Amino acid sequence: MATAGQPKLIVVADAEALAQAAAERVVARVVANPGRIAICLTGGSSPKKLYQLLGSEAWRGKIPWDRVHWFIGDERFVPESDPLNNMAVAREIFLDRNAPPGHIHPIPTTAESPDQSAEIYARELQAFYGSDQLDPARPLFDLVLMGAGPDGHTASLFPGYPAVEETTRWVVGVPKANVAPFVPRVSLTLPALASCREMLFEIAGHDKQPILTRLLNGETLPAVRARSNGGTLWLVDQAALPEGIRGGR
Ligand code: 6PG
Repeated sequence: MATAGQPKLIVVADAEALAQAAAERVVARVVANPGRIAICLTGGSSPKKLYQLLGSEAWRGKIPWDRVHWFIGDERFVPESDPLNNMAVAREIFLDRNAPPGHIHPIPTTAESPDQSAEIYARELQAFYGSDQLDPARPLFDLVLMGAGPDGHTASLFPGYPAVEETTRWVVGVPKANVAPFVPRVSLTLPALASCREMLFEIAGHDKQPILTRLLNGETLPAVRARSNGGTLWLVDQAALPEGIRGGR
């Protein structure tokens, strides 16, 4: 298990192997905590295979559903009925069939504005955590799943946006996205996301090669700045690796 600081890079063969490895990390985090477990999911297309696995016959029995609470790191500010809604995708693929309804914690998108939605979700997270101050000795999440966008964003923290610099609030409204889909977003901030035992990035496919190259070069993009106070793992597949190191690890 990685420790605080530099992310640990784990290279697997392809997207299937990556989902398998990610599912193993989810189970490992669940097994490590005999009490109440909090997992922060992510949006986009990268985690879909993982969500399918977690809901499959082979894996669902490994998860103590009555002890796990499911949150989401960012949301597109669209109704739950919209296919762009991140939590709706996770619900449809695996949560609704397995998790108790009270354990699914979507970011509300019926609020008046992304800012208001952010405030409501921050209060929900704080009520769950039992404080509005994060204690480094007591992480908010057991596991935070992440993805990296083509501009180096993660969650809905886009490069150069003020949301990336937020040090106090746990959740913020993001009025305008930097990449498609161009809908307003609501995002957890770097300090809230960092409050976890493990942060797990899933980065797969040739389309990710240009951004992974930049991330590995240490450009100070949000996806590089997102670090767990515990361990940070970057799960990547061969197709996403920069040419120079492909097959070499
Ligand atoms: C979102 C995400 C976002 C995502 C990356 C990667 O709402 O879009 O949470 O941060 O993880 O953009 O997206 P893909 O997995 O679709 O490449």
